[in-house]
Amino acid sequence: MKIDKNKNEFTEDKILWTNIAEASSFDKQQQQVFNVNRNEILVLKIDQEYKAIQSRCPHAGLSMKGSPLNLENDSIICKWHNTSFCYKTGDVQKWVDVSPFQKKIAYFIARFSKKMKEMTEMEPSSIEIFKTQVIENNVWVGISIGD
Ligand code: FES
Repeated sequence: MKIDKNKNEFTEDKILWTNIAEASSFDKQQQQVFNVNRNEILVLKIDQEYKAIQSRCPHAGLSMKGSPLNLENDSIICKWHNTSFCYKTGDVQKWVDVSPFQKKIAYFIARFSKKMKEMTEMEPSSIEIFKTQVIENNVWVGISIGD
């Protein structure tokens, strides 16, 4: 496909592709956040591939940028409460993994905080993943735009 270099977007097969950055920008920062079509997307460079996932963890809505990766099971482990998500499928591998002490504190605070109560009772929730491709040394993220 020929890409108009003056355009940073194109649509193909109901996917909106957006040019987010030069691939070389990931040499220094392997995790970067971009706002694309009202989605806050965390793009990860893993080996020579790019994975794009929703940036905010569904548990407490905090940014996962800077979270550790486990390449053995293709996961990102949310740096806040250790929920791990597969960065290829978005599936939850382990939901909220905190110490018994942290759990006690959370349940105590939940008595007074509706938000904390919701967090402690929340069912595991997967994350959204997005397509990526590299075109002429630029990384593009693809968002499904449906019918
Ligand atoms: S914010 Fe990610 S596990 Fe709590």
